[in-house]
Amino acid sequence: MKILVTGTANGIGKAIAQKFLDCGYDVAGLDILPATVIHPHYVHFVADIAFADLPPIDGVDILINNAGVQNSGNDIDVNLKGSMRVTERYGVRQGIKSVLFIASTSASTGSEFPEYAASKGGLVSYMKNVALRLAPLGATCNSLSPGGVATALNEHVMSDPALWAQIMEETPLKKWASAEEIAEWAYFVTVINKSMTAQDILIDNGESARAKFVW
Ligand SMILES: NC(=O)c1ccc[n+]([C@@H]2O[C@H](COP(=O)([O-])OP(=O)(O)OC[C@H]3O[C@@H](n4cnc5c(N)ncnc54)[C@H](O)[C@@H]3O)[C@@H](O)[C@H]2O)c1
Repeated sequence: MKILVTGTANGIGKAIAQKFLDCGYDVAGLDILPATVIHPHYVHFVADIAFADLPPIDGVDILINNAGVQNSGNDIDVNLKGSMRVTERYGVRQGIKSVLFIASTSASTGSEFPEYAASKGGLVSYMKNVALRLAPLGATCNSLSPGGVATALNEHVMSDPALWAQIMEETPLKKWASAEEIAEWAYFVTVINKSMTAQDILIDNGESARAKFVW
């Protein structure tokens, strides 16, 4: 089985690539940066998912749209339109088994940077559209919406003790997920899961469920 993952040079995408390689799959990675995963069953393609020509990659069984940016000025181009380009090119085809998107809690809460929230909200709607189109092919399509994950994307707040303390105050489980934990979810939803489709799963340590009870 061949797995295509976008954004494999860092963070969550790198952890997802490594999880599938550890499980014996062939993995292709697509990133704007050079490869950081080195493995005999890993092939890396350097391309910008939003603005560059996409390379020919045949026979993708599972597609994981992970590449994303935050408050970049191009969030909708990369997170939404780039993921749509990748999906229409490699994911909507006979033989596909599962498509997954890494969205964000921002998609349902509307918090964080405006263009980022809009890009992720659009991604969840697009996921449902793809799920309906892939269902006749017997393939699943879902999204994961993490809250905070300890990656370089969040260096700004992770390295500031005062900001970090404020974040933990807002987070019921008092922690963030690791990239490796999100990779386990990605594996479960695309490989083990056969019956759930068109769903967005929140993995946010209770962040978006937090509601003050006033009496
Ligand atoms: N870290 C979090 O707290 C968190 C929370 C919710 C959702 N997410 C989402 O998870 C995904 C991965 O986030 P991360 O924290 O691992 O980020 P990261 O910055 O550590 O890694 C993102 C990867 O995507 C690549 N990339 C960026 N733009 C690209 C483009 N145009 N074309 C190809 N590759 C590109 C980068 O080079 C990088 O390797 C993103 O979509 C992000 O929005 C992250």
